[in-house]
This record gives sequence, structure tokens and C-alpha cells, in this order.
Amino acid sequence: MLALAGCGGSQNALNPHSHQAADIANLFWVMMAVSFGGLALITGLLLFAWLRRGRRGVGADVDDPHPGEKPSWFVVVGMGVGFPLMVIIALFIVGNWAIINVTQAPAESSTAMTVGAVGHQWYWEFRYPGTKAVTADELHIPVGTRVNLVATTADVIHSFWVPALNRKIDTIPGQQNRILLYSNKVGVYRGQCAEYCGLQHAHMAMLVYVQPKAQFRAWLKGQAAPAAPPRTSLARRGEQAFLSGSCSSCHAVRGTPARGFVGPDLTHLASRTTLGGLTIPNTRDYLARWIADSQHFKPGNDMPDFHLRDSQLQALVAYLEGLK
Ligand code: CUA
Repeated sequence: MLALAGCGGSQNALNPHSHQAADIANLFWVMMAVSFGGLALITGLLLFAWLRRGRRGVGADVDDPHPGEKPSWFVVVGMGVGFPLMVIIALFIVGNWAIINVTQAPAESSTAMTVGAVGHQWYWEFRYPGTKAVTADELHIPVGTRVNLVATTADVIHSFWVPALNRKIDTIPGQQNRILLYSNKVGVYRGQCAEYCGLQHAHMAMLVYVQPKAQFRAWLKGQAAPAAPPRTSLARRGEQAFLSGSCSSCHAVRGTPARGFVGPDLTHLASRTTLGGLTIPNTRDYLARWIADSQHFKPGNDMPDFHLRDSQLQALVAYLEGLK
């Protein structure tokens, strides 16, 4: 039960929201049932032998071997080798035919849209081909829509995994791997990088927002638009600091000269709910602390400490908070 407790919440392979995830969950239960069946059978036989100990032939004194009561071929070869082999082969066939086929890359013609997922050490970049929208760590898709997810990487091997929606798909350098992303229900589903990719592998999570179609279209339109210009004088100072300082060499803000691609695209940073691969919530306080000392929250990430003055920090936060 303690082990299964980890499967709760919004990152739950046993609470599937697609045909694919449902088949994976079913396979889990079938394997679990067969395993427990096998365990019960073996335990039962052991118990049976123990209860009958001392009788002729079963657990009898070795000095009195009772010729003619040698272990039969049926027990040794049949039950010891043949039966387990049959069970394992049957599970293998069920797993392959039932799951591999249904979770393989979808025919592109069968999908309604494509989303690109790019793994970075350590965050997820999401692109919507055909639009300028680029976001990080929080992916939005419309409900009841077959999405062709194309997974690649900017550096090492990662693995895109949203347990409630489908199996894992690795991101391999120089290669594009595809998987179907589909959800039959509006909601927020958590995903996690599932391939060890360095120090902050555990802090490489993502959220999938499954939205009603009209709401998704509105969201995508907003994300595709360039950044809102700063409204207050403090935010304008923040923009200047962002563009003239080091921020813009690593981050992009569409609609400004900032075109860096090392860190996440910040064009609509304020529309996201989390920072740093879901490490901390995207609030004013956390945002300021992240800029001032991101290594505290995520040691080893690429963002250095710029030793900003407090006034600079406040201006930057005001600017970034306006990037809705
Ligand atoms: Cu990326 Cu583990």
C-alpha cells in the first residue's frame, strides 16, 4: 500500500484517461493478478507439504527414501519448468500484442495536431508547429483530440512520460520519436522525465493541461502572440535590464531582441503556474528568489548568480510578472 501510494494524485498510471493508458493499466492488473496467483499457488503447495510432513513420501526421513516415491517428471519438468514458461510466454504475448500495437506512434493522418516536446537539462520546451507559440514545462492540449507528440532533445536522452495518458517516449539526440497524446477528460495531468539525465533529473516534471477545445484555441492564440510591452516605469526598467544584461543571451522574449535559446522561452512566463520544471510555484516571491538564487532551488542548472542589486531584481520581477 505504501508503494502504491506513490501512484496517487495527478500522476497516476492506474487512473488512465486514454485508450492507451487504460490498456497499460489493464496489463498491470493482469500481471499483478497472475503474479499473485502464482504466489498463492506456490505458498499453498508449500503449506500443503508442511501440513503433511512426516507422512510417507512427503518430507520423509532421508534414511528411509521409500523407493518408488521419487519426484515425478510431472512435478519437476511440468510444474517446475513448463508451467512457469507458459505463463511468462503468455504474459509476453499479451504485453506485446495488446500494448505495443496500441501505443505505437500514431499515423500522422490520424492526428488532428502536432506538438513538439524538446527535452533540455532540465526543463521541457513545448512548440506548436504552424504557430509561433513556445512554452515550457506546461503543455496544453484540447480534450478528445488526437495529438501527434514529437519528442526530441537539445542535449542528452530524456524520456517524456505522462502516466495517465500514455507510455514513455525517449528523446534521442538527432532523432524524432512520436507518440499519441490523447485525453478523454478535461483536467491537469502531471508528467515526469523518466530517463536519468543528470543532477536535476527529478526536477524535470511537466503539467499537461487538457482544456475544452474553445479554451485551448484561445490559450494558443495568446501564446502565439508576442510579449506584452511593459506597462509601468518599474517594468520598463526591468525590460531594459533584461535586454542589456545577460538574461537575453539565454532566454527569448518574442517581440523583443531577446532570442536566447539556452533557457526557457519567457514570452508568456506569467501565464504559467510553476517555475523550474515544477520545482516551485510561479509567485512574485518565488520568482524573485529564483532569479536571485536559482541554484538554491535547483543546484547545477545553467542559470548563474548575477549578484543583482535589489532595485534591479524588483524591476526584473515587475517586467516578468507582466509577461502574461
Ligand atoms: Cu530529463 Cu531525466
